[in-house]
Amino acid sequence: MSKPIRKAVFPVAGLGTRVLPATKTVPKEMLTVVDRPVLQHAVEEAREAGIEHFIFVTGRNKAVIEDHFDMAYELEDTLKRRGKEKELAELLADLPKAGATSFTRQQAPLGLGHAVWCARDIVGNEPFAVVLPDMITLPGKGGKRCLAQCVEAYEKHGGNIIAAETAPKDQLHQYGVLAPGKDYGATFEITGMVEKPPKGTAPSDQIISGRYILEASIFKILEKVEKGAGGEIQLTDGMIKLSQKRPFHGVRFDGKTYDTGSKLGFLAANVAFALSRPDIAPGFKADLKKIVGKL
Ligand code: UTP
Repeated sequence: MSKPIRKAVFPVAGLGTRVLPATKTVPKEMLTVVDRPVLQHAVEEAREAGIEHFIFVTGRNKAVIEDHFDMAYELEDTLKRRGKEKELAELLADLPKAGATSFTRQQAPLGLGHAVWCARDIVGNEPFAVVLPDMITLPGKGGKRCLAQCVEAYEKHGGNIIAAETAPKDQLHQYGVLAPGKDYGATFEITGMVEKPPKGTAPSDQIISGRYILEASIFKILEKVEKGAGGEIQLTDGMIKLSQKRPFHGVRFDGKTYDTGSKLGFLAANVAFALSRPDIAPGFKADLKKIVGKL
């Protein structure tokens, strides 16, 4: 039987240049989608997938992330004194258990592969999840978000798992692209992968989509990976090496992923997440209709 997935790494040390000037002083992971930071959505998804320990790889100017997952004594006390029980209960429900978070620093944003490698000592020798928190997901018909579907695939296939999604052919050169092998319907064998393939050379239209389950042997490989696309240490390059020895499977996520790291993706996420909230959707729909009607 495969070892359970208990820990998730959240790389949050990037500069967020695509959403400047918002990210000049606010980390992009702390921008809000509806009423909570993007990162909170990602942590909730991980919790739903059974993750018990949340590892954040932070960087300069990201201290507010650590505060978000801590008690806010003055705020909690004020809410209590003012009888705001509902708001207080919501705050406390979101708080991870004592000792269930770890924070480490990537001193310079050298790339996603390097950020994941920074978590090696905290992860130790067990398989773990990687969650790119700027990608947030809404469940499809199956009712589960992306990481829970990855964990299911891991329980079926073992080894390493990558969430995949279909991208338009003219955009494939911007992404990590997978070469599919044997097809199992909701999952498929991965026979190859390439980071940012030159136009017209992508092996398929299946792109790597921000959720991974990886074996701990990736760390030894990442230690030696050289700078790749964009002058960064790429996680994909490490996974390509690992896939020469170990199995990889892709998951066709039955749901929708939003890239809040881009301005359009961030706006679309706010609309979709608001429409998925029973408490907010009715009022929001009325406002949205007024705006859309004028287009
Ligand atoms: P992105 O490439 O989307 O993040 O990386 P970025 O570099 O912040 O974005 P732009 O292009 O400048 O707008 C995906 C995830 O990996 C993290 C980011 O914080 C993001 O959550 N990351 C990226 C790191 O932690 N360290 C890095 O060196 C690079």
